Amino acid sequence: MPSVGLAIRQAYPFDPANTTALDFACGTGLTTRSYVSGVKSVLGVDVSQNMLDQYMKQAREKGLADKMSCICVELKGAEGELGGEKFDIITCSMAYHHFESLQDTTNMLVNLLKPNGMLIVVDMEAPHAETEALIEKLDFVPHKHGFGVDEMKKVFEAAGLVEFDMKHVAHASLVGGLEVDAFLARGVKPGQI
Ligand SMILES: C[S@@+](CC[C@H](N)C(=O)[O-])C[C@H]1O[C@@H](n2cnc3c(N)ncnc32)[C@H](O)[C@@H]1O
Repeated sequence: MPSVGLAIRQAYPFDPANTTALDFACGTGLTTRSYVSGVKSVLGVDVSQNMLDQYMKQAREKGLADKMSCICVELKGAEGELGGEKFDIITCSMAYHHFESLQDTTNMLVNLLKPNGMLIVVDMEAPHAETEALIEKLDFVPHKHGFGVDEMKKVFEAAGLVEFDMKHVAHASLVGGLEVDAFLARGVKPGQI
């Protein structure tokens, strides 16, 4: 979904000299690489070392290893995780449907943002009927029905984010007849509470 990268780059005022990013559930780094030119550094976090091996292989092959690093960890939301580092922007693409609790995950990510930092979540919109039937068979996906604006807004605001915005960013026809529409939701952590 190339337009996802474009939408992320348009959603945040990236500054290659200063912006520090966290790509949560980064996988092989598809999303990270779509905006790496706009950051000073980006940390990929994932629970799969296999994914992260690919992440760093691609980073090295594309000459991006000076900016991209990664860590295999399951974050719990405890103070001091990731060495206490806070980030200007946190992205999480196509992974929210894997998480049992959207609210716990969002609270944890907001805790890792600097004041005025931005959380960007990309995931599936509510699917078409045929796709829904296919996704229904995937028993490892807790949220099979995509996410609506009201649900995402509620979760973001309950985590303390302001300036919520959500829009359609991409459509993809995948193998097996899967038709996927993706949204980008963003919110900003207030500078002063
Ligand atoms: C569909 S992939 C998306 C990868 C990447 N964000 C992208 O857009 O290409 C979902 C990823 O979420 C990771 N994941 C699932 N649960 C996680 C968790 N609790 N913490 C971190 N990563 C997780 C998986 O290992 C997998 O790499």
